[in-house]
Amino acid sequence: MKIFLIGYMGSGKSTSGKKLASLLGYEYVDHDELIEKAVGKPVHDIFREDGEDRFREMEHHMLISLMNRDNIVISTGGGTPCNYNNMQLMNENGLTIYLKMSANTLVNRLRNAKSERPMLAGKSAEDLYGFIVSHLENREPFYSEAQYKVKAKDLDIHELADFIKKKIAKPELI
Ligand code: S3P
Repeated sequence: MKIFLIGYMGSGKSTSGKKLASLLGYEYVDHDELIEKAVGKPVHDIFREDGEDRFREMEHHMLISLMNRDNIVISTGGGTPCNYNNMQLMNENGLTIYLKMSANTLVNRLRNAKSERPMLAGKSAEDLYGFIVSHLENREPFYSEAQYKVKAKDLDIHELADFIKKKIAKPELI
């Protein structure tokens, strides 16, 4: 089984993904980190030097390359579900879980970490809220295609792991 964690930047995909993988006895991979290793530079530099379109292409190809792996939890990038046919690919090949978080909470969590995120680079503290509200709204239709949606704030990772274990035991119910 492949578990794809999807959701906006700052929703805790990496932290939850690592814990989930360890509770399930699965391997954990961070989609962005795989791209960084393959290209040999940070995502920030890929955006700056090669542009977002090129990054999206790499992201799509990396996703395809993950399709032959199994027993794995993958934390995707915030924009992964919104490009190419990525959401369909993930839904057809594994279990997709949307870590849903309100714009307010995301702004609070991203305020101090925006420098690492090219999508948020250059946004002032005042602009950040408006940007995230409308960006999240645009992305929501893609995120909503996930098979399962969980409240990411105060997420009970043990409860999520137990739920997934049941799905793994009875994949016909997915
Ligand atoms: C992006 C989110 C980032 C990374 C890239 C683009 C986005 O991943 O893939 O900076 O478009 O939302 P995180 O969601 O892990 O921050």
